[in-house]
Amino acid sequence: MNATTEFPLFVSAGDILTDLVRAGDSQWLSHPGGAGWNVARAVARLGLPTACAGSLGTDNFSDDLWNASIAAGLDMRFMQRVERPPLLAIVHQTHPPAYFFMGENGADLAFDPSKLPEGWMNQVRWAHFGCISLVRQPLGDTLAKLAADLRERGVKISFDPNYRNLMAHGYEPTLRKMAALADLIKVSDEDLQLLFKTNEADALAQLRAMNPTATVLVTRGSEKATLIDGDQVIEAAPPRVEVADTVGAGDASIGGLLFSLMTASQRTWGEHLAFALAAGAAACRHTGAHSPSLDEVVALLEG
Ligand SMILES: Nc1ncnc2c1ncn2[C@@H]1O[C@H](COP(=O)(O)OP(=O)(O)O)[C@@H](O)[C@H]1O
Ligand SMILES: [Mg+2]
Repeated sequence: MNATTEFPLFVSAGDILTDLVRAGDSQWLSHPGGAGWNVARAVARLGLPTACAGSLGTDNFSDDLWNASIAAGLDMRFMQRVERPPLLAIVHQTHPPAYFFMGENGADLAFDPSKLPEGWMNQVRWAHFGCISLVRQPLGDTLAKLAADLRERGVKISFDPNYRNLMAHGYEPTLRKMAALADLIKVSDEDLQLLFKTNEADALAQLRAMNPTATVLVTRGSEKATLIDGDQVIEAAPPRVEVADTVGAGDASIGGLLFSLMTASQRTWGEHLAFALAAGAAACRHTGAHSPSLDEVVALLEG
């Protein structure tokens, strides 16, 4: 095997879990998930060698995640397994969403970057971090250190805080640390409001103050998104689609942006943004966290 293709070019670290969603009074459906895992699947599906780095248990839910990761074409050398309980997101109400997490002493917390295949850091170009993994210790500290180590080696860092109720108290230092490490930050309008508890312009100013050189993507569902890079501020609306559901739309949009940055560096920021928004919209056409193919995204771009 050629040394330059041996390892993934993109790694999403952390945030692999099972969503257990109420399907009736006492009936539940399980779905492999996690925002970080969705971003990894998005980039893999578009066509780049990708891994999702983390740790699973040895139970039935972890088996499902393992098998779905293989099916998504992820590099399985980055997924570790330990005999500890799985991380579950119990979504007991969907409209409006109400959820809590189960995973005390969970398998995810045992993730050990020192056991990843030697040399991978020389190959990877972008790494992505975010969501609840950063507030589950000791995993949060492990991931923050990994992000810092990667950055030190010239790997670009992507960060999507993805607000969850676990961040209601004491998240500010983590947000500040990860934002400062990031080359690219993705937030939704809801993330901004819930993280900073103020109006959007004010929240965005506070986020940008944490790292003025980071590129920032703000998405607003079906409304116009904004991409900010230095003095450039670009706005664009996502393509209109028939929406099956919006699960994983944000993950597909940041995955699309990362894919565009890694495969078409000649594009303008406006073109990168259009690709990201088409990827997000394409994810909405199917139920669940659908990872759109390149053909699906291109069709929407040209449509
Ligand atoms: N109703 C929609 N119609 C078309 N595209 C959508 C819709 N909802 C989301 N998207 C796409 O997904 C992107 C991210 O959605 P958003 O809801 O802002 O993020 P998140 O999933 O993180 O909350 C949007 O910028 C857009 O490209
Ligand atoms: Mg999001």
